[in-house]
Amino acid sequence: MSSKVLILNGPNLNMLGTREPEIYGAETLADIEQACQKTAKSLDLDVDFRQSNTEGELVDWIQQAGTEGFAGIIINAGAYTHTSVALLDALLACDLPVIEVHLSNIFQREEFRHHSFISKAAQGVICGFGGNGYKLSLEGMAGLLQASK
Ligand code: DQA
Repeated sequence: MSSKVLILNGPNLNMLGTREPEIYGAETLADIEQACQKTAKSLDLDVDFRQSNTEGELVDWIQQAGTEGFAGIIINAGAYTHTSVALLDALLACDLPVIEVHLSNIFQREEFRHHSFISKAAQGVICGFGGNGYKLSLEGMAGLLQASK
């Protein structure tokens, strides 16, 4: 049976394609989801890909991930990365492997983006590879899940 991976996207990521394309690229979130579904298939993973602009909804999804049968979480928390103790606490409590992903290289940008609250809960962090970072995250997650079998 293939493992289920939850991919969560935070605020403003629904605007990809038109949002600051010089930073985030021309791909839409739907393009990224399509690429994730393709990569997941090749890795024998099932992906559920979600986006919310609401912090509480992301917290709810993380809380429910275990009972919904997910084996791991990949998260691009958008700006909540830099502000949200609530997301950190939910990720610490969920007892699943977590990979943090960002399209841009957050360390090359404004100083307030250099700190991530959620990194403390993440097994690995991938940033700066644009939409391809999601593919790399899925490959990383497949490795983690394989190693834990
Ligand atoms: C982002 C980086 C964050 O600083 C920003 O607030 C985002 C997107 C990224 O994917 O590069 O919304 O997470």
